[in-house]
Amino acid sequence: MTSAPTAAPQDRVFIFDTTLRDGEQSPGATMTHDEKLEIASLLDEMGVDIIEAGFPIASEGDFAAVSEIAKRAKNSTICGLARANFKDIDRCWEAVKHARSPRIHTFIGTSPLHRAIPNLDMDQMAERIHDTVTHARNLCDNVQWSPMDATRTEHDYLCRVVEIAIKAGATTINIPDTVGYTAPRESADLIRMLLERVPGADEIIFATHCHNDLGMATANALAAVDAGARQIECTINGLGERAGNTALEEVVMAMKVRNDIMPYRTGIDTTKIMNLSRRVATVSGFQVQFNKAIVGKNAFLHESGIHQDGVLKNVETFEIMRPEDIGLVQKNIAMGKHSGRAALRAKLKELGVELAENQLNDVFVRFKALADRKKEVYDDDLIALVADEQTNDAHEYLQLKKLRVICGTDGPQEADMVLTIDGQDHHIDATGDGPVDAAFNCVKMLFPHKARLEVYQVHAVTEGTDAQATVSVRLQEDGRIVTGASADTDTIVASTRAYINALNKLIVRRQKTAPGNDTKTVSYHSK
Ligand code: KIV
Ligand code: ZN
Repeated sequence: MTSAPTAAPQDRVFIFDTTLRDGEQSPGATMTHDEKLEIASLLDEMGVDIIEAGFPIASEGDFAAVSEIAKRAKNSTICGLARANFKDIDRCWEAVKHARSPRIHTFIGTSPLHRAIPNLDMDQMAERIHDTVTHARNLCDNVQWSPMDATRTEHDYLCRVVEIAIKAGATTINIPDTVGYTAPRESADLIRMLLERVPGADEIIFATHCHNDLGMATANALAAVDAGARQIECTINGLGERAGNTALEEVVMAMKVRNDIMPYRTGIDTTKIMNLSRRVATVSGFQVQFNKAIVGKNAFLHESGIHQDGVLKNVETFEIMRPEDIGLVQKNIAMGKHSGRAALRAKLKELGVELAENQLNDVFVRFKALADRKKEVYDDDLIALVADEQTNDAHEYLQLKKLRVICGTDGPQEADMVLTIDGQDHHIDATGDGPVDAAFNCVKMLFPHKARLEVYQVHAVTEGTDAQATVSVRLQEDGRIVTGASADTDTIVASTRAYINALNKLIVRRQKTAPGNDTKTVSYHSK
């Protein structure tokens, strides 16, 4: 077993990624088991110090994902979340114990509002904290403790419970701004106060965990680091409950670009950021807004004449970092229908995508088909194609085998479909109010369900009428929200496959949230 890295140099800031736990808690961001393993392996390769892989007690699926990630991790510490009770902590340990470096993260809400829910007075809660942290520490020598809603907890009580947790053996104390309420100066003052007032505070690592409800998560996290916190909890693309968490790419790049005023180091290989951002966007179904800092499509685009002129003469006029720093490469190899497998592999590598040989073969077949239909295959086309290949798995329960649609000015529009359900082909035709509606009606007739279509979005990947369309679809059934995505030059095919992708995710969610196996609704407060 390894212990917390308290002996690290003073300027080293540990990056704790919670995309797979807090990020996945975002309504609609459910990821499949395989997607979680893939994201964890990319985080591990990128140099994330600690991966919070899930909430093992929440469901069998979460438990299986955390255990498997723990077994596979090569470098990162693997952490699981547990509420303040022995059952949660034991289950968490069962999942993370396989890791080369395991961590148990246990928490309880300490603010007046949160204390009222389990109906514990200050003394009873202090005792619970002592007992649960001691229990966790008896299992694992790397224990993180969080007073949930710390930024709205009375200072004296916060100091008291942090001291108890440290004495009981916590090696990292995380200070969550659970509802995104704090502001930078206050975030810094809180860490400073804890470092000054709590005995033993210099022996452990303080972490900052900020939510973005007021748009200050990045600023709050960096202010906490300035005051002495040495672990930042964050997610890729800022994914997370409500307005999300601190975005990993923002804090890491801020410390890199403004190292003159924030002289801290992380272990992150920043050239892997862009690929991770794209993968998380695809598997979570949460597309990145165009003007998002660092990873938005427009983050390095210069539209106005003055900017373009300036950048051509000297890139530093309007660029404070280089696209290559985050793995956004210049387009060197042009791809077309005569390009071979080696060129495709090289191009994907240039784009930060490395595929296993069998995956590359599948992508190559689809690339050739796309190159036949499209004059030029742009980088964004390839990225969409790879994302689609990875999202729409050939082993899914529902698969689109064939689709023909009749559309035009004279309705009704009609679709003729072969859908494979659990390995069996089923044929049907249906009409609809437009071609997409007709195709969706076919799916509904062959696979009846109650899910409501909440979002249907179509984006052109590149310019031109032969551009691929990426479609995302959000469905809701009995409170379960799932998103599906797909890309194709045929918008109706992309739409139908996105719809089927969402239904496949819904099938997984139904199993996870069957009575007695409730994942996302698991209460944060244990009795
Ligand atoms: O925001 C929060 O308080 C959390 C805790 C579980 C650490 O995510
Ligand atoms: Zn959180």
